[in-house]
Amino acid sequence: MSRTKNKRTKVLNPDAPRGSLEAKQPTIDLGVECYGKNGYFDKESMQTEWQKIWSRSWLLAGVVSDLREVGDYFLFEVLDESIIVTLTKEGIKAFYNVCSHRGAMLVNEPRGNQKVFVCPFHNWTFRNTGDLIRITDEDTFDPRLIGHRPGLVGVACEIYAGIIFVNLQDDPSPLHQEIGLPEGYLEAYRIDQMNVVRHVVSEWGSNWKVGVEAFYESYHLHAVHPETRGVMGDLNVQYDLYAFGASRMIVPLGQPSPRLHDQKSVNEGLQFMLREAGLDPDEFKGNAADVREAIQQSKRRYAEEKGLDYSGFVDGQLSDSWATGIFPNVQIGCHPEGVFIMRFVPHPKDPERFFYDTMTMFLPSDGAAKAPLWMGLPEGTDVSGRLRPPTEHYDIDQDPNLGLVLSQDAAFLPKVQRGMRSKGFVGQLWGEQEQRLRHFHVELNRRLQIE
Ligand code: FES
Ligand SMILES: [Fe+2]
Repeated sequence: MSRTKNKRTKVLNPDAPRGSLEAKQPTIDLGVECYGKNGYFDKESMQTEWQKIWSRSWLLAGVVSDLREVGDYFLFEVLDESIIVTLTKEGIKAFYNVCSHRGAMLVNEPRGNQKVFVCPFHNWTFRNTGDLIRITDEDTFDPRLIGHRPGLVGVACEIYAGIIFVNLQDDPSPLHQEIGLPEGYLEAYRIDQMNVVRHVVSEWGSNWKVGVEAFYESYHLHAVHPETRGVMGDLNVQYDLYAFGASRMIVPLGQPSPRLHDQKSVNEGLQFMLREAGLDPDEFKGNAADVREAIQQSKRRYAEEKGLDYSGFVDGQLSDSWATGIFPNVQIGCHPEGVFIMRFVPHPKDPERFFYDTMTMFLPSDGAAKAPLWMGLPEGTDVSGRLRPPTEHYDIDQDPNLGLVLSQDAAFLPKVQRGMRSKGFVGQLWGEQEQRLRHFHVELNRRLQIE
């Protein structure tokens, strides 16, 4: 029986040079295995994932622009662990957030500036480099107990393209060997120069993997987000698979979905995008098929006028979303003016919940640049980067105010979670538009098998 293989494989720019970041990656046949569904519900799987995935993978902890002055720190929480990530005189370091005396949590504020940490239990004091500098009533301790000056226990920490990753293994492989993305891919966006302009953590009613899966495909756009049909080429998406579970989809923006009958009219959504790119829709001579290119050209011109360096970006990057996944739980929506970093963080106790942690980052501008619509920022958000806004937290039953599309996902995913529980459901059947999901599960499975 012959398979109709790669019927819908899309190459967005057939002229992209081989080996370039834009070029379509070679197709990988990942088979048709149907994975079980227990990993979405039971605590045992959660425990295994903790041991094999979260305790062993490089995890996105934060971004360098959140640590500007020596002493700046933030806490990174993953399941039961809390990690202090801080800028010291010697660079960025990470430590378990626990006092070496009797194990009290050292820091409770999620971010701040402290060059020393004083334990709230008995006031043992540590430098932010981890050194223990004071033991209260030291003469009451046997020197054999404290002679080695037990400081804070370090966590492996690496910086990559302005992003801080940590790894709970004692001696992990270097990050660049495991991240899977080609060199220069994330670096091109200059995330190290961007500032967080909004940080939202909301609790969602499904397993974290249901979150990853929903954001790794654009197959559900027409059904769950029908209003995107006017401006997103959902059937023209290019899917690319990299090593170690990393992947990317290029979602062309500024073109109608091929599912729409009308491929000519410059619909309201396209008009909006033209306006956003500095073009007057009333003067626009082309039809719907010309909008994406017009946006690219206008952005290129705008960048030149404003002295923004877009020389490292191909035209497609100026208009489209390069949604880039890093195993296990990250997707970054990459755009020249800013990035949208999302993390799918498991709930520490309940396998049927996760935290959707999103940071919107923006390149500093002279104030002229407005945040584009894709960022979904509430009216009046300060994008200057002068002030790091506090993280907003939303409970499971609150609308995280992330814009219509993300609210639709938040409302829908619990229904997937519940449906998957049913005796009538065996396991997921992924098509080619869902190849990133299979790729993710192949890597997940590979790591779960490692002793
Ligand atoms: S537990 Fe920290 S000083 Fe005692
Ligand atoms: Fe969605």
